[in-house]
Amino acid sequence: MQEDLERVLFDETAILRRLDELAARITQDYRDRELTVIAVLNGSLIFMADLLRRIPLPLKLDCLSVASYHGGTKSTGEVVFRQVALPDVLDRHILILDDILDSGLTLNAIRRKLEEANPRSVRVCVLLEKQIPRAAPIEADYIGFKIGGEFVVGYGLDYMERYRNLPCIGVLRKELIAS
Ligand code: IMP
Ligand code: MG
Repeated sequence: MQEDLERVLFDETAILRRLDELAARITQDYRDRELTVIAVLNGSLIFMADLLRRIPLPLKLDCLSVASYHGGTKSTGEVVFRQVALPDVLDRHILILDDILDSGLTLNAIRRKLEEANPRSVRVCVLLEKQIPRAAPIEADYIGFKIGGEFVVGYGLDYMERYRNLPCIGVLRKELIAS
């Protein structure tokens, strides 16, 4: 798998070092609040597992699954919630965890959907933020790394459901992406 990368952006050591910093900030910010983390599957799974074990607070964890990409490298803008019942967020402080903020369409749809159920607060935490213009009005409150516009895989992020189990984050070789 590693040979399918054009270059590595963040190796495992760099990722975990950054998670230490992110987790410390989140722990500090939520020390007096009842935190509910909502992880967006599947991309945030590995990020979530490593981040949450660094947050020593009595938090609740829930997951959401949406379909937004349909296998390619561009968002279609259509976001479909896969579960019948959404997590119970009434009066809770919600922290949404996702792998990457790209067009913002997915996270914006998730955020709005959760806000309809009257949480006490909603913040967004992403491992990666692409430095590109967003198609939806959404910003992340906690960001692991800022990257360019390239398509990346690894550490939870996929291309056609592959590469999620790569321990590092890297740029996929262009010739492997179907045009
Ligand atoms: P958005 O709606 O365009 O912000 O993107 C939503 C989803 O697209 C993310 O949660 C990822 O699953 C996927 N995505 C966006 N950019 C990348 C990338 O560079 N690599 C892998 N997946 C990506
Ligand atoms: Mg994906």
